[in-house]
Amino acid sequence: MGYNVAIDGPAGAGKSTIAKLVAKEKGYIYVDTGAMYRAMAVHFLNKGIAPEDTQGIIDACEDAFVSIKYEDGVQQVYLNGENVTSMLREERVGNMASLSSAVPQVRQKLLELQRGLAEKEDVIMDGRDIGTNILPHADVKIYLTASVVTRAKRRYDELKEKGIDCDYDEIAHDIEERDRRDMNRETAPLKQAKDAILVDSSEMTIEEVVAEITRHCR
Ligand code: DC
Repeated sequence: MGYNVAIDGPAGAGKSTIAKLVAKEKGYIYVDTGAMYRAMAVHFLNKGIAPEDTQGIIDACEDAFVSIKYEDGVQQVYLNGENVTSMLREERVGNMASLSSAVPQVRQKLLELQRGLAEKEDVIMDGRDIGTNILPHADVKIYLTASVVTRAKRRYDELKEKGIDCDYDEIAHDIEERDRRDMNRETAPLKQAKDAILVDSSEMTIEEVVAEITRHCR
């Protein structure tokens, strides 16, 4: 059995940035489960399925196989043998992932992959339902959050930095919308596990958050 750290929280709380740094410091493998949902979303988009077409999504699950490999310690996601990692951050993919991840058959498809990784390796796994559902016996559970204002501001700065034109209010609205969906869906909604440590990063630097989390790890 690997040593398992679960890190859950809403979109934009900084889970992946933090988890990567903790992984490096502690020698864990970083597992990004959002990327797996995004790969499933690529599959649905490739098939021309609309995000609202639940039956289409269920049917399309049959021939979707997601796997991951590590190249120089960086997670690469494969969909039916093809490396789709470079497509995963697209906005349309994120939207499809947010909607299609509410479908139980989509979650079921990824469950074994996620549990299998945690069984074999020392991992820090980030997602929405890791501490509550995927790894209920994780050694450490973290619920990482930040206010909507902080998360929207970070996203805004990130896009500006990349030279992408964007609107703060629109970003904040999108974040609220995604929170609402992730927290209110019937299957495996985002919520803090009873035994998870709450870390609110709104007023913390990246270094402070990493230090706070590693303090709880073996
Ligand atoms: O963390 P992310 O933005 O890459 O995740 C994309 C979508 O996938 C997100 O809207 C919710 C969903 N997701 C999920 O339902 N469960 C997870 N463990 C990880 C992500």
